[in-house]
Amino acid sequence: MKASLRSIVFSAAAAGTLLASTGMVLAADPIAERIHGFKDNKHAVAAIKDAMASGHQAAITAPAKQIAAFAARIPSLFPAGSTNDDSKARDAIWDNFPDFTAKAQALQSNAQALADLTATGKATPAQVKTAFVKVAESCKACHLRYKEEE
Ligand code: HEC
Repeated sequence: MKASLRSIVFSAAAAGTLLASTGMVLAADPIAERIHGFKDNKHAVAAIKDAMASGHQAAITAPAKQIAAFAARIPSLFPAGSTNDDSKARDAIWDNFPDFTAKAQALQSNAQALADLTATGKATPAQVKTAFVKVAESCKACHLRYKEEE
């Protein structure tokens, strides 16, 4: 009894070490978590648009950083075959996971570039717009291929 308990604890610890060493933290409920994260993305984009319209460049940096941070987590929130009735994820994601990951990385670097640009406080409205369009196009490029229509 004791021995088997110890071995269970040991394997759990070993599995934890394995996960930690891959740098991937598995979400308890990846579908709910990613849908929540994408909703936050939508709000962050709205905040960026408002800030652009009012010329408030400093207000763009935080939501852009938030988008970049979430983008870095996107691949880990799509474990193989994770769909349900609430999910709009298409099976194509897991047939083309390297491309899906590349699209998440593109969003991450474009959102980070927008954050860096606006953090200078010296970007022209045209520069901000160009950087923002790249972010919006990164969202669209992934949705076109990997998200079901509304
Ligand atoms: C790498 C691919 C990818 C990128 C990049 C991406 N999305 Fe998505 N998005 C998805 C997928 C796949 C879903 C469907 C997830 C699900 O329902 O399980 C989704 C769902 C959504 C949803 C719907 C959430 C809901 O209410 O069900 C919104 C809103 C959204 N994304 C906004 C954005 C915005 C804004 C960006 C860019 C800032 C973005 N996404 C970038 C793949 C992506």
